[in-house]
Amino acid sequence: MRSEPESLRQQLGSVLDLVNRKWPRGEIALSEPEITIQQQRKPASGLVFAVVNQKGGVGKTTTAVNLAASFAASERSTLLLDLDPQANATSAFGIAATRHIYDAISGRCVMKDVVRPTELDFLDLIPAGRDLYGAEIELASVLNRERQLERSLSDLRQAYEFVFIDCPPSLGLLTLNALCAASRVIIPLQCEYYALEGLAGLLETVDLVREQLNPELGLEGILLTMVDQRNNLSRQVGKEVRDHFGVEVYETEIPRNVRLSEAPSHGKPVLLYDIHSKGAVSYLRLADEILRRYPRPSHSIAPTVASGGLASEGNTDE
Ligand SMILES: Nc1ncnc2c1ncn2[C@@H]1O[C@H](COP(=O)(O)OP(=O)(O)OP(=O)(O)O)[C@@H](O)[C@H]1O
Ligand SMILES: [Mg+2]
Repeated sequence: MRSEPESLRQQLGSVLDLVNRKWPRGEIALSEPEITIQQQRKPASGLVFAVVNQKGGVGKTTTAVNLAASFAASERSTLLLDLDPQANATSAFGIAATRHIYDAISGRCVMKDVVRPTELDFLDLIPAGRDLYGAEIELASVLNRERQLERSLSDLRQAYEFVFIDCPPSLGLLTLNALCAASRVIIPLQCEYYALEGLAGLLETVDLVREQLNPELGLEGILLTMVDQRNNLSRQVGKEVRDHFGVEVYETEIPRNVRLSEAPSHGKPVLLYDIHSKGAVSYLRLADEILRRYPRPSHSIAPTVASGGLASEGNTDE
């Protein structure tokens, strides 16, 4: 029988081969000295990050919610779009809405009508609802079905510097819509033995979307989540991932932290629940790491659409 570390190395090796073949290092490197273009990017306007991993429970929603909140805490105008029928990002803000993302995608209303304010001045939310479960079936017969989100978001995205999309745990039509609407992909990777299962498929999907549907799409970074430094396996997986993916992995790691799992039940991102917790500090640090690549615009962008009066509902309309 193979030992765990050996087969882990094999898994990593095959993923690495694929990455090197499909994503030549220079194309996705983010912080090597010669890749200064990435670090001198123009100020972003409506830059869309898709938080994607078809594996369930790896920290996509926790990352989308807390990273978006941390961007907003740095006074960078941000929109969080919940594209998961489980609507976890929506409930993480204590929001119960009657109108959801799917009403906008399906043309029953325009996107700005579903935008909701949050407790943070620089953060708005587009909520999801369970009706999104039917979206894959309904969208299947629509022309350009993979571009419906991009189309309905096009008027709104420029009102924000950054848009985060929290994706569901699948590579179905909803995630495909997110990848068509996005410019950058953030992949949360849980530091456990099966972390890399499916990563090759995910990178291949991203690559395919870039080749055939969205040439702008690129990898923003891989994020190690739920890291437990006391656990040998967690440390080892983290080290192996860093050895192989190098600068594509964020320096900042997200530790396993109970405050991160408690915050959603209080309807708050962790920085409003316990700003001194390790979880809050890690996401603030991650935001800082990413925001260093995106200079603040010289002209001021209106903080948010919802607080600007375009969406007038309060936080609970049910
Ligand atoms: N760093 C962390 N420390 C402790 N708990 C965490 C951490 N990150 C996430 N969790 C918890 O782990 C569970 C799964 O996290 P999350 O919902 O963010 O994953 P997900 O990838 O969005 O899941 P799904 O695939 O179902 O959408 C949640 O209960 C969350 O509170
Ligand atoms: Mg989720």
